[in-house]
Amino acid sequence: MLQKPRGTRDFLPDEMEARRSVEWRMREVGRRWGYREVCTPEFEDLELFTMRSGEGIIGEMYVFEDKGGRKLALRPEITAAVIRMYINEAKVAPKPLRWCYFADCFRYERPQKGRYRQFWQFGVELIGADSAMADAEIIMVASEMLTTAGVRFDLKVGHLALMRNLIADLEPADQRKVRAHLDKREFDSLRETLAAMGKPDLAQSLISLVECRTLKEALTITGDLPESKRIEQTLAALDAYGVQYSLNFGIARGLDYYTGIVFEAFADNLGAENQILGGGTYRLAHLFGGDDVASCGFAIGFDRVMVSLGESSRPRQETIVGIVCTDEGRARALEVSRAFRSAGIRAEMDLMERGLGAQLAHASKTADFAVVIGKRETESGEVTLKNLKTGEQKSLDLAAAIAEVGAHGAR
Ligand code: HAM
Repeated sequence: MLQKPRGTRDFLPDEMEARRSVEWRMREVGRRWGYREVCTPEFEDLELFTMRSGEGIIGEMYVFEDKGGRKLALRPEITAAVIRMYINEAKVAPKPLRWCYFADCFRYERPQKGRYRQFWQFGVELIGADSAMADAEIIMVASEMLTTAGVRFDLKVGHLALMRNLIADLEPADQRKVRAHLDKREFDSLRETLAAMGKPDLAQSLISLVECRTLKEALTITGDLPESKRIEQTLAALDAYGVQYSLNFGIARGLDYYTGIVFEAFADNLGAENQILGGGTYRLAHLFGGDDVASCGFAIGFDRVMVSLGESSRPRQETIVGIVCTDEGRARALEVSRAFRSAGIRAEMDLMERGLGAQLAHASKTADFAVVIGKRETESGEVTLKNLKTGEQKSLDLAAAIAEVGAHGAR
């Protein structure tokens, strides 16, 4: 038997309904804030992703050559593609641009619970606004989307300027190593790495920085920075809007393009793969041939959100009507089923050429009501409506039957 590729998943109808209902809650938050949906290709020129991050990233991607010899990659994330699209299509549009997307990404990772090779992100990008309020807005939207989705999470906000200030004297490759250790909270490896670089004291300063819970305290380690006023303003806006967060100046983010504010959210009830959102301010446009436009954004790991929500994400079951009929009732049953559907009610007819009794038995397993149309109903013009949960049964005209089922659904 053929199986699906490693790290991918199939979704059955119940699961798809749950996913769509959470997706729509996120979309609705985006809409209220003015973020409009965009869509980019599933694959891009490989260069789009290696330009900023270097060839090293190829090991983590699905890379292939097409029949024309072009080097392509399945997108591992969507921010770079959105900025490429902005430069291609919307460079002259009035700023800021508020865009969002819901799409799948591909990373060649070791699969485990919450970590897949194909996964979905709900993302938001704010392009062309360079201000404390822009930074704050993105964090507010992030927090509101997760809250509206129903997840319980901790939001952590940091700023790269503080860490960068401490490691400014290191070579770029060494800075990258240090950031990677901090990102993964590998403090022992951090100490070893910095000792080997001849900077043992730096490890302690960095670890102290990670442990700071206020900006003031953090600035005593780094000294005052040109960015501190903007950070203060951003945090003041978050407080005014009522966003719940804590500060963490150890956030380094895995991707290379971030420049200032960075933030991550962690679900309360997940294990190792508990990061459900990541984002920050970044600059990418200049790399792709555009002007150096400031942007900020985030992406929610949609699949992790679904794992965190578990059963609570199941939408309320809709009311289902099984249309049960004899051969002579079929024409009338088709009219009746059309009337139910026109009223927005899910109605299903037998397709298995079963007898009335077998149709009713099937309906009692799959539906809430049966509408029976036999010889008598065809002649009288009424329908028999049976509530399959209570067994109650009555003869009604079609409009009354639709009203009764509709009222049940509204309860
Ligand atoms: P990221 O942190 O690499 O950021 O990914 C965002 C989220 O996607 C993660 O926090 C995680 O929840 C989820 N995620 C990542 N890898 C996997 C995986 N293998 N399986 C399941 N979920 C995963 C970005 O991608 C940036 N583009 C975010 C951004 C947008 N920054 C600015 N704008």
